[in-house]
Amino acid sequence: MTEQTRVIGKPVSRIDGVLKTTGGAHYSGDRKSSDGALLHGVLVKSTVAAGYIAGFDTAEAKQMPGFVRFLSYEDGDLIYRIDAPNDDSFVVNEQRTPFIDNQVHFVGQHIGLALAETLEVAEAAAAAILVEYEEDSRHIALDDEDSDLDKPDASGTGEALQVHRGDFDEGLADADVSVSATYTTPVEHHNPIEPSATTAVWDGDRLTVYDATQGNVNDRNYLAAGTGLAKDQVRVLNPFIGGGFGCKGYAWPHSLIAAAAARATGRPVRLVLSRSDMYTSCGHRPQTRQSITLAAKSDGTFTALKHETLSHRSPIGDHMEPCGMPSMVLYDCPNLVVTHSNRVLNRPSPTPMRGPGEASGAFALESAVDELAEKLGIDPVELRKRNASQMDPRNSRPWSTFNHPECLDRGAERIGWSRRKSPGQWREGNELVGLGVATTYYPAYRSPAAARVTLFPDETAKVEISVQDIGTGLYTILAQMVAEKLGLEAADVAVEIGDTDLPEGPLAGGSMTTASVSGGVAAACDALQEKRAQASGDEAISAEAGSEESLGFGGDNDMGKSFLSFGAIFAEVRVDKDFGIVRIPRLVGVFDAGKILNPKTARSQMIGGMIFGVGMAMLEETFVDPESGRFINPSLGEYYVPVNADIHDIDVEFIDEPDYDFNPFGARGIGELGTVGTAPAIANAVYNATGIRVRDLPIRLDDLM
Ligand code: MOS
Repeated sequence: MTEQTRVIGKPVSRIDGVLKTTGGAHYSGDRKSSDGALLHGVLVKSTVAAGYIAGFDTAEAKQMPGFVRFLSYEDGDLIYRIDAPNDDSFVVNEQRTPFIDNQVHFVGQHIGLALAETLEVAEAAAAAILVEYEEDSRHIALDDEDSDLDKPDASGTGEALQVHRGDFDEGLADADVSVSATYTTPVEHHNPIEPSATTAVWDGDRLTVYDATQGNVNDRNYLAAGTGLAKDQVRVLNPFIGGGFGCKGYAWPHSLIAAAAARATGRPVRLVLSRSDMYTSCGHRPQTRQSITLAAKSDGTFTALKHETLSHRSPIGDHMEPCGMPSMVLYDCPNLVVTHSNRVLNRPSPTPMRGPGEASGAFALESAVDELAEKLGIDPVELRKRNASQMDPRNSRPWSTFNHPECLDRGAERIGWSRRKSPGQWREGNELVGLGVATTYYPAYRSPAAARVTLFPDETAKVEISVQDIGTGLYTILAQMVAEKLGLEAADVAVEIGDTDLPEGPLAGGSMTTASVSGGVAAACDALQEKRAQASGDEAISAEAGSEESLGFGGDNDMGKSFLSFGAIFAEVRVDKDFGIVRIPRLVGVFDAGKILNPKTARSQMIGGMIFGVGMAMLEETFVDPESGRFINPSLGEYYVPVNADIHDIDVEFIDEPDYDFNPFGARGIGELGTVGTAPAIANAVYNATGIRVRDLPIRLDDLM
């Protein structure tokens, strides 16, 4: 079903690249007000995990020249009460309205905002404000049995989280071989280089907000609710964003606090989160403890699978890490139990982070598959192929495209899988060498999106849509789509995004923006072509259209198909025999993500996704003080992410089979697909190199000595 394309599928360089590399791209914290009226806000954050604020002492702050005002719950109805999600028009991470009362739920909760003429004074004032608390008993540990435990029925995207299929005990009794193990993943933080930042400007009863958000429409609707305005009185602008990885996805209180502060003072307010604010104000990947039992006949056929997840949420948020997802979809197994439990803890609110649930869940499942393969004496590539789900096991619908086995075969070829030896048997000098594999996957999502396309007499065009490019390449993809449809070159198409006054598009999350905008952009271009046929050619013509349909990966749809991207990750690792130091000289990823619209930006996204997986496997961990509930290492100095020296050869291949059932351009999501299987592929390679099975991420030197 391939069709000839002219601009789509070409490695067009980023059209926003020059602006970004020359400082011409302005981010939310860069906005200046021309008249010097801009105020700087710095958050005052709770230092206790549970209790009540008994009082503030602001005397010292008030003495500071340039100090303007301190805002807190004592200012009364500064912010409209948000009964979220109050009209289904936005998604928040925290149901609690900021500054609504004096209760404290975790260390780092925003309890006040210091405003001053300069950032320096605002910082000094925030630090000088003394807070008196009445402390309450707190719940910090994942196994704190005195705290509440939720068992949510469905994930944020509506997937069932408590699943029983067949008869697990019978399946286990039928098996010849089984493995049972517990895997853990730590708290991790997104750490985009651009911190979250909000600049709020009021003009009468209209509010303009420059906000570093992955979802400007969602953010606008949240800000309207919290300020009591109509949606069309609020405009959110986010033309450039310096990464997000999920932490700028759903709305967060600091945006609303900045807007309320600007209204209260009658001046523009800029609130840029500090790096340490970024650890408590905009989510994290929650800690998980996952128990898996996987059983098979001696020929490798899976007979029983149980995947039980324990994670945590905050008292005011409801994120649940859906780790059991891969166990529900990747393999055929007639007898399945998947459960999810969420402990309510006095810790900051978790939120989606690249491959939320999928990445943590795949670490556990794909490690267990590796353990079973060894016990069975079957090659782990072969074991996966034997059990790969040919259809969606949840509803017996065919996958829209299915290349899971081919991804495994191609990856095996590219990494040189035939070189692989038994655990601990491959030595080169002082190093133990190993190869590992894991399946990767990511559900395909699509949301409603509208677009406006204009064609000018000089045969250039403009596309306008309220979406955001969080660094993934959407500017360029939109130009390619319009150029393809109108018979232009990408360079002839101006792209205007990041402005909620434009036709509404989706959140940049769930790797779904490209698939979502496809329908709206194609429809607008088609409508434009009709007008063009009638037009004289000496006036600009414009057309707007939208695609209203959402498509979830396993939801009901006319096509009777399920939409999921599969892939395979292979890792080569070299472990220093004496010091346990792990190097990863080569990673291979083979992906089936539908049609690849731009191999250059797509490859870059997959490399980024795989590097995220390297961080997860080897470095990333936020430590929680079990006594106070504080994050101990909230800085880039103490939270380690991979740097250039950690990354060697990363090889990316795409199957590139268009999925025209999913959208007119045939693309499914990329990005998160690169992250999901990477950590288990590395852990499995470390096992193959050393014979040591690490079930608790990240992998440390101490584990391997
Ligand atoms: Mo994401 S975790 O879909 O930004």
